[in-house]
Order: sequence, then C-alpha cells, then structure tokens
Amino acid sequence: MATTQHSPRGSWNSKLGFVLAAAGSAVGLGNIWGFPTQVADNGGAAFILIYLVCCLLVGFPVMIAELAIGRKTQKNPVGAFKALSNGNKLVPLIGYWGVICGVMILSFYVVISGWTLAYVFEEIFYFLGLEAAAQYVGDLSNGFKNSIFTLFFMLLTILVVTGGVSKGIERATKTLMPVLLAILVILIVYILTLDGAREGVAMYFKPDFSTIDANLLLSALGQAFFSLSLGMGALITYGSYLNKKQNIVESAAYVTIFDIGIAVIAGLLVIPAMFVAQAGGVQIFNPETGALFSSVTLVFDVLPEMFHNVGGIIGLLMGITFFILLGLAALTSSISLLEVPVSYVIDEHGLNRKKSAWLVGGLVGVISVVVSYELYLIDVFVNIFNEIGLPLGGLMICIFLGYFWKTENALLELKDGYKNVENGNFSPLWIILIKYISPILIALVLITTIWSLIT
Ligand code: PFF
Repeated sequence: MATTQHSPRGSWNSKLGFVLAAAGSAVGLGNIWGFPTQVADNGGAAFILIYLVCCLLVGFPVMIAELAIGRKTQKNPVGAFKALSNGNKLVPLIGYWGVICGVMILSFYVVISGWTLAYVFEEIFYFLGLEAAAQYVGDLSNGFKNSIFTLFFMLLTILVVTGGVSKGIERATKTLMPVLLAILVILIVYILTLDGAREGVAMYFKPDFSTIDANLLLSALGQAFFSLSLGMGALITYGSYLNKKQNIVESAAYVTIFDIGIAVIAGLLVIPAMFVAQAGGVQIFNPETGALFSSVTLVFDVLPEMFHNVGGIIGLLMGITFFILLGLAALTSSISLLEVPVSYVIDEHGLNRKKSAWLVGGLVGVISVVVSYELYLIDVFVNIFNEIGLPLGGLMICIFLGYFWKTENALLELKDGYKNVENGNFSPLWIILIKYISPILIALVLITTIWSLIT
C-alpha cells in the first residue's frame, strides 16, 4: 500500500498509516470519557442521535476542508492560510488561532493524561496493599505529583513528535491503535458479564427525547469538534503530509466513522461500568442534584472503586488495562496537538524538528505545571479554547473556504485522488454544507455558548 515519494517536510508512508494517524488524533479522552459521560448526562440515545447528525453535517465537511487546505499548501496552519490569503492580512489569523489553541488545549490535556498514568500505579499499589502510596498517586489535587506525571506524559509526546511524521507519529499510531481497540473489546466483554451492567446498557440505548434542547445541541456540536480534532488545524497539518494520490473524501469518511465507532463502543464500556459500580454500592448520582457525577469523579473515583470491588488479580488487570487504554488514546491525540505548533515553528521560523519539538514542548510543559497546581484552569481553558476556540476556528475555516478560497478551487484539490469528485452527489452536497449549513449551525451554537458563559 506504499504510495508516497518522501518530501523533505515528511510525509505519510501509506494510506492506512495516514488514516490511523488521523484516527489516532481523533480518538482520545474525548471519546473514552467525554462522550459516554455526555450521553449519560443528556438523555442516552437521544444525545447519540444528535451527535451523529453534528458529525455528519458539520464535522465531516469541515474535516474534508481542513485536509484539502493542508494538502494544497503542504504547510502548517499559519503558512497554509498565508499561502492562500492573496496578501490579505486577516486570513493568516485563522492559522495563528489554531496554533494558540493547540498549545493551550495540550497544556491541560497532558494534565488529565498524567492522571491516567498515575492511576495505573494507583491500581497496582492498591493491589499490593500499599494503601498510602495508592492514595498519594490517586490524589488529583496534589500539584507536585500531578506535575511529575504531566511532565512524563509531555516527554512521551515530545519524543514521538521528534521522530517525525512517518517514523514517529505514523509508526506510533499504527502500533497503538490496534492495541487500543483490542483492550477496549476485552474490557467490554468482561464488564458485560458483571451485575448491574445490563441496566447501563438499557440506559445507553434508551432515548429520552424530552432532553433535546439548545443546550444539548450545543454539547453535541462542541463534543463533535473536540472529538474529531477539528477547528485548530490539526488536520490541516496532517493533510499537509498527504500525497496527491490519496482520496481525501474517502479518508475523511474512514476517520469520521472510526471516531464515532470508538466513542459509541467506549460508551458500552463506561456506562455499564458505572452501573456495575452502583450495584457494588458506589454512588454515581449526586444525591443533592440527582445528576450524574462529573466526568472527573466518574473516571477517577467511581471506576477505580468498581475495580477495587471486583478485587483480586481480575480487578487489578481491569484497572490497569482501562487506564492504559485511556493513556494510549490520549497519547495519539496529544502528539497531534503538539504537531500543530511544532510544524508552525519548523515551517515559519526555520528551526529543525528536534529543536522545535523541545522548544514548544518545553513551553507547554511550563504551562501544564501551572495547570497541575491550579486545576480550576482546566475549566477556564476548556471554556475558552475547546468550547469557543474550536467551533470559532471551524466557522472561520468554513467562511474562508466557501467565500474566499472558493469551493471550486477546493474541489480541484479534492480531484487529486478522487477523479469523479464533481460527477456524483458529493460535491453539490458538500458545497451546501460548507457554505451554508455548517457555518450557520456553528454560529448559532457559538452565540448560545458565549451567551450562556456571560449570563
Ligand atoms: N480529539 C481528541 C479527543 O477526542 O480527545 C482531542 C483533540 C486532539 C482535539 C487534537 C483537538 C485536536 F486538534
């Protein structure tokens, strides 16, 4: 399947390699803990349905747009928008915004990823009867301990990114993604045999349509952007390493389907696991509000308690494989978050890959240590850079592509690797989605989000 001539900037070695790398970026904490807890909080299958609509009507067309911009220009997001700006000074700001979002999202993403590593040790210490040590590594509020695990995770991310596109990112994701899938399936099969699991499955698949409101739409769209890694140029960057033979539309379809699939499957693990925990006497609903506990509490309190209740070697194995699963999924996403600013520094400031990765990684490391101590910053950064930043980036990408670069030019780019792009139903549909439906939906959601944040 090797299809590439290597360019000095680096390029993907194979079609599958690219799809797995992009899927690796997409599948992360957003799928394994974000999606299931949102489903549980927002009316079960009703949320899944709306989420699917958001992925198909907004996520998929924006993903194609990002990949086309990346491959056309063969540049990082800033360079890409500069190259297509016709001298307009405002257009490259879309790229700069992406680089800033990459740095800021990564700086809290690695803190949560560090917790997943810490909990691998928590499970081991608990099994060995070392309660004090288990409590120490499991204490999310310990800034010093958080910093150590965060920096270790940052180090792993930097090491993969210094390896380059095909030897670092592609090789790591090609190995990690199948492992991740295997762990997920094994854990689900086991969880479903435990008491209480059925109740969870029933809740997961039973839609409660009365919960559909503006808020739910907002959560679903935000979740779709975050989960599909859209809006900050991660896929412009990954697209810039694509060769002209690859069918962008087909690849984007695989990545979208894979990401949705993993999120839905992860729900089949996390939601039944919560109910298994409940059957074992652990509280999963807040007694005061009646709502489900927040995702942090669920993943780092409820699930470990469930693993402890299962006990013995099985409990240990379930615990460590679950947190390794989360850690691996997070790693294949964090490398894409780092690759965005790193590719910017390489392309625009002429530094080599190694220096750029250490420089940007070091800067993110410093911010992440501050976040490790001041955990309220996670919520602040989520609000600014995820909930507003990514949809805003997506909106600007739609407007840029539809009204500045123009869909005819984008379609010319898509033609490479997809000769018949203009013949079937795809192109008229995509044009309507990218010019009208996606930007209008995103704008509505953004306005509501900003409104709800300031009132
Ligand atoms: N998609 C990742 C997740 O679901 O956890 C997070 C992410 C990665 C967001 C890369 C944005 C991005 F550019």
